[in-house]
Amino acid sequence: MPKLIFNDDKTVNLEEDSPIKSHCEEAGIPFGCEEGVCGTCVIEVEEGMEHLSEFTQEEIDFLGDQDTERLACQCKIKGGCVKIKY
Ligand code: FES
Repeated sequence: MPKLIFNDDKTVNLEEDSPIKSHCEEAGIPFGCEEGVCGTCVIEVEEGMEHLSEFTQEEIDFLGDQDTERLACQCKIKGGCVKIKY
């Protein structure tokens, strides 16, 4: 079962291919547009980038490089462990 791990080591279990947004929101990450446009929900992926869904066009447009940053409103978790920082 995929796991999402936050800064403070709080860990949540998610279903495969589920969006991470609601769990990030509960952890205190702010959301605005929820459509990948405003950038409010930027997170840094410390581990497990390969377990997140592909970058969306909105993320590529907003973030530029496909590096360690993601927009939490756009990501789904596919499996494994993903550690994020915000
Ligand atoms: S909430 Fe606006 S980009 Fe994610």
